Amino acid sequence: MASFASRPRVLIAAAAATLALVAPGAASERVESLLAKMTLEEKVGQLNLVSGNHAVTGPFAPQDVRDAILKGQAGGLFNVYGAEYTHSLQEMAVKETRLGIPLLLGFDVLHGYRTILPIPLGQAASWDMKAIEQGERVSATEAAAAGVNWIFAPMVDVARDPRWGRVAEGGGESAWLGAQIATARVRGLEGSNLANTDSVAACVKHFAGNGATEAGRDYSGLDLSERALREQQLPPFQAAVASRARCVMAAFNAVDGVPGVANDRLLRDILRREWGFDGIVVSDFGAISELPVHGVAEDGFDAARIAFQAGTDMDMESRTYVASLPLLVREGAVPGGELDEAVRRILQLKEDLGLFDDPYARSDPRREATLIGSAEHRTAALSLAEKSLVLLKNDRQTLPFRRDARRVAVIGPLGDAGADTLGPWAAHGDPDSTITLKEGIEAVLGGSAQVSTLAAGAVDGSKPADIAGAAKLAAQSDIVILALGEHATQSGEAASRASLDLPGDQMALARAVLAVGKPTAVVLFNGRPLTVEDLDREAPAILEAWFPGSEGGLAVARTLFGLNEPTGRLPISFPRSVGQIPIYHDHLPTGRPAAPTYKPYTSAYIDLPSTPLYPFGYGLSYTRFEMGEPRLDRLRMGAGETVRVSVDVSNVGDRRGTAQAQLYIRHRVARLSRPVRELRGMGRVELEPGQSAQIVFSLTEQDLAYWQPGGRFAPPEGGPIEVHVGPDSGQTRMAVLDYRPRGPSVAHDPGVRVDTVRPTP
Ligand code: BGC
Repeated sequence: MASFASRPRVLIAAAAATLALVAPGAASERVESLLAKMTLEEKVGQLNLVSGNHAVTGPFAPQDVRDAILKGQAGGLFNVYGAEYTHSLQEMAVKETRLGIPLLLGFDVLHGYRTILPIPLGQAASWDMKAIEQGERVSATEAAAAGVNWIFAPMVDVARDPRWGRVAEGGGESAWLGAQIATARVRGLEGSNLANTDSVAACVKHFAGNGATEAGRDYSGLDLSERALREQQLPPFQAAVASRARCVMAAFNAVDGVPGVANDRLLRDILRREWGFDGIVVSDFGAISELPVHGVAEDGFDAARIAFQAGTDMDMESRTYVASLPLLVREGAVPGGELDEAVRRILQLKEDLGLFDDPYARSDPRREATLIGSAEHRTAALSLAEKSLVLLKNDRQTLPFRRDARRVAVIGPLGDAGADTLGPWAAHGDPDSTITLKEGIEAVLGGSAQVSTLAAGAVDGSKPADIAGAAKLAAQSDIVILALGEHATQSGEAASRASLDLPGDQMALARAVLAVGKPTAVVLFNGRPLTVEDLDREAPAILEAWFPGSEGGLAVARTLFGLNEPTGRLPISFPRSVGQIPIYHDHLPTGRPAAPTYKPYTSAYIDLPSTPLYPFGYGLSYTRFEMGEPRLDRLRMGAGETVRVSVDVSNVGDRRGTAQAQLYIRHRVARLSRPVRELRGMGRVELEPGQSAQIVFSLTEQDLAYWQPGGRFAPPEGGPIEVHVGPDSGQTRMAVLDYRPRGPSVAHDPGVRVDTVRPTP
């Protein structure tokens, strides 16, 4: 029986990461000769990034991009797309400016260009790196055919506060999982050769710490210890850089009082010196002009000097560099050599993208017409959407529904909502060619069933809910599907929420429909964990659909009716209440752990359990599995050794299904208190009813590494390591490994000691 276990990559990279200072990237002859011809103004023009008006992604009014090109004040544009239009812009840059330098053309393609894939948080729920990489190939191919050569993704901020709307854009709460996703996404976007016409430069964002934003408010201040920065926030960025992401976006937020675009420790010491990054650093939207508002620069002039010297090469939309850098260089406040370095990096990226050889190669109306939205891309979107779905509850095998159902009711404001099925940051996605849940159900059931849809109100309560009508329709139906959740605009940038309850009257609507007593499943559309404890208590079945994209309604329908098995696992914990936030699986232990029921003088709430409603890694299947205790092939790990960890799984249900095991470690005794669980592996195997198999992981020394007080990633000096394996972070069983890097190595020892424990709250 085939089994697959994912191997940890990040910490290996992290441990090997104390690189020597890397010499500035060697530029091509063409770049050098161009640089030698450029005036100061032309050089500064290359550092300017201007927004077009195909999308509005920030607070400044879009300007005339043609004017900026003709004045030589645009190294790149963003929020522009379309083969013909981008061709005309490149033509203008190439033919109507003195040096004819082509343009970087950027766009936020977070989860698809035209064919929209599930939101990144949903993709993360697939835990399937191959599928994620393939999804990015689709995005890159489509965006590139429309002339885009640079994508502002992946967003890899590790996020533990679901009030922050941008959790939708990332990979969830685990730095380990986030790093694997970052690798997959960079590979998918950049392809095998950046110069290919279906490759784009990836821009990993938001460097750094944006995921730790305080109280979930966008753009807010935050305080991050060196350890939290290194262990929680940076690993996905480092993995992206190790996979050769060509661009890093400096964040709005400050770390230790210094905003991202002004943070020379992050941009120069860590990114360039430690990690050897030789790509370009671009500011987030207008972030340089925000430095005076942060209170770290006197005015725009000062802001330009500070940001440039900190290592921000390109100014997105604040026009601060074009306004100030020429004078700053002339006055000697900014060294001309540093300006040349920044320009060289930007030109070299253009060179690597093949833009000097053929600036129009990506702007190809023929490829645009054939590739964008192709059947192959739609199939990839469907497959990834199916993999992203997480079955949160399924009492008495309510799901899957039988396909011979005659009267099917789809009730709720998200049952037939194209734009909300796509989700936030849907690029050039088309709500009209999106398969909604209602359409998906019709496609799955064919003409034999009568599918009745009733929105019964608005997502946000702006229209009164038609509760009586909904109950009546439920009563007349054989099965009911409740489509509830958020609007696409309630997640994403600038969409922080203080309440994570179902918005508007949706819970009242759900209660009334559930009270009718028909077989009912809830489908949740949302960009973040919601607090759905009441729903969990009252609904027999809940399927988490996130915002599933262009084929989303079909993916959900195929899953509800048993044509697809739900295999997604939560990449982020679902709190019971906003009051528990932040809540995540790899928290630190306490000297007074909470007991299963409230006990005074413990680390517990008096009014709520300390556990999440659904823990990290959680997700059900349509069949049931039994998982044994983890076995180690040796009791002791010496220096450089690998331990094989295996677990038996059996399908004890009556359907074929995919069993999944996750491996976590805990340093039981170390010089520092270490998290109660840290993810280090995931494995899965498909099993027929009654079949069993083994899932095997290898655990290496590097998996034990953490940020040491001396300032580097390394395994500890030694000590007992708990090895936890289970279907999710809340239900694991444990074996103990004796890690002794200094002692003599011990050969295979079958006498494994296994302790079974309840999860540590
Ligand atoms: C966002 C970035 C985005 C940029 C350009 C900013 O407001 O924070 O993630 O890439 O706009 O659209």
